[in-house]
Amino acid sequence: MAEATAGAPKPGDWALYRRLLAQLAPQARYFFLSLGGYALYSLGVVLLADLMQFLLDSLDGEQPAGGGLLSSITHYFTQGSDYEALDLARTVVPAAIVLLALLRALGYFGGSYFMNHVARNMIHDLRCRLFDRMLLAPGDYFDRNSQGVLLAKITYNVEQVTGAVTRALRTLLRETLVVAGLLSYMLYLNWRLCLVFLAVTPLIALVVTRVGRLFRRYSERIQDSMGEVAQIAGESINAWRELRLYGAQQQQRRRFADASEYNRSQSLKLAKADAISTPVIQTLLASAMAVIVWFALQPDILGAMTPGALVAFLVAAVQLGKPVRQLSSIQSLFQRGLAAAEDIFRQLDQASEQRAGGAKLGRVKGDIEFRHVSFTYPGADQPALRDVSLRIDAGETVALVGPSGAGKSTLVQLLAGFYRPQGGDVLLDGQSVSTVDLIELRAQLALVAQRPPLLRDTVYNNIAFGELAGATEQAVTEALQMADAAAFVEQLPQGLYTRLGADGDGLSGGQRQRLAIARALLKDAPVLILDEATAALDNESERAVQEVLQRVTAGKTTLVIAHRLSTVVQADRVVVLDRGAIVEEGTHPQLVQAGGLYARLYQRELVD
Ligand SMILES: Nc1ncnc2c1ncn2[C@@H]1O[C@H](COP(=O)(O)OP(=O)(O)O)[C@@H](O)[C@H]1O
Ligand SMILES: [Mg+2]
Repeated sequence: MAEATAGAPKPGDWALYRRLLAQLAPQARYFFLSLGGYALYSLGVVLLADLMQFLLDSLDGEQPAGGGLLSSITHYFTQGSDYEALDLARTVVPAAIVLLALLRALGYFGGSYFMNHVARNMIHDLRCRLFDRMLLAPGDYFDRNSQGVLLAKITYNVEQVTGAVTRALRTLLRETLVVAGLLSYMLYLNWRLCLVFLAVTPLIALVVTRVGRLFRRYSERIQDSMGEVAQIAGESINAWRELRLYGAQQQQRRRFADASEYNRSQSLKLAKADAISTPVIQTLLASAMAVIVWFALQPDILGAMTPGALVAFLVAAVQLGKPVRQLSSIQSLFQRGLAAAEDIFRQLDQASEQRAGGAKLGRVKGDIEFRHVSFTYPGADQPALRDVSLRIDAGETVALVGPSGAGKSTLVQLLAGFYRPQGGDVLLDGQSVSTVDLIELRAQLALVAQRPPLLRDTVYNNIAFGELAGATEQAVTEALQMADAAAFVEQLPQGLYTRLGADGDGLSGGQRQRLAIARALLKDAPVLILDEATAALDNESERAVQEVLQRVTAGKTTLVIAHRLSTVVQADRVVVLDRGAIVEEGTHPQLVQAGGLYARLYQRELVD
């Protein structure tokens, strides 16, 4: 029954079950406690039929002569003594009823409580491991999966596994044991009648298997559509202003409705399959009962059983209905859990960022070299960088300029080891970054990106972030001063300890940027990278920050990516990138003289 309920085993399914079971291994103790509980429960159910037999057989005033369990036990204890069968029954039956109820109650409690223990531990563990995976995933993982889809995986999919493990596994264990117990009892009472009954089980198994296959298909679709729903909702929340300004609500409403509608229709299909399977199974069971009664009332079979045994047999058969129904009804839950578990395992299996290289760096001087680097983003059809070679000496300040989409940020991503170039090599102090421990590598870089994310935490925690946690208040304040941010932070209600909104909500673009600059300055790494870091600042703050940067970049290798060329004039060298290739290189005056792309960009800016 357990196997049939598991649905439609595809070849890969056994691996999936094995893996789910492996998840249970650390919880083995609670699992077996739960199993023990349900064994008691199932015993309680079986003994109820047995009690009926004892009661009925006592009614005709005969001393119970064995046959049933209880009859055998009482027979054993009362052997030889003289007593009225009915008097005995009056003592034994009520006591047995109470004892059985207690047995079942105890079993039910132990079974379900300990199973919850197993499930909750397992879910917690899976969820944390999934999150961990995400923290270590390579850069293209985030390109392939949208934020909404990833969130849905951590929340919805993990919840589905919870459902499967808590409710489905609980029911599966409990009712399978009940079925096993009842069938054994029926075999013991009259094996021929029992075989008649068992003749319908292949039909039930067939229904359950068919339905299971449908359940799995719909569950996968429901799960994917939940990701889609979350995705559209998430992006609409982020872009609520744009949706209004561009009158795009209608369009977004349709996209959302489509995604939700797909989810609805697939859920309904699942519900339909679910609702059909139960009555079909019930009808099959009822037919089996009818056949049994027909057989049982034949004189030669009837003669071989006491009325008590016959009733007990029928009671056991009727009692089978409920567990079979329940087992088939947890199918959808179980299949949803399996579909989710499959997806979660896929996530867990995906490689983390390659950390093959374990070379230690210490603190580098800051020589950077791009050697014939070519790179195409996964799934992109155009290379973002084509055969780029560039040397930056320690302590040098190099400006990278060029139209947007030229590949400037991509160079930085490769240097930070977020992606690996398909051709060529990126070196830091002469060491290929692919051989360097990623933690060591990133400790060398302080990066301020185009739109630096802030966490929903205090200003202090946003600056003294990660490895910097524990920095003194004075160090943080100095970093803020250098980034021209001290003044506005002082104005905040709790100063340094004001909690920021989600992703820095409530701050202007320039303010966010200055906090990010302060964070990078506090890190005091040998290589400083500013990727359009001052783009969101007004002219005055930009100039202030520029001045500061000139002071703090002394002795550091600095890579400044800038849109506004006025900010790159002081760089030791300017490198011009266009469509993934370096087209010009030189000092500002040299490039203006040369009259190439840089000169044209500069001219245009002067006119503006
Ligand atoms: N995550 C990504 N996935 C696919 N393509 C990308 C990704 N990021 C950037 N690109 C593409 O790579 C090229 C270079 O981008 P980028 O380095 O960000 O340019 P920029 O010079 O403006 O910083 C662009 O054509 C861009 O569309
Ligand atoms: Mg960029």
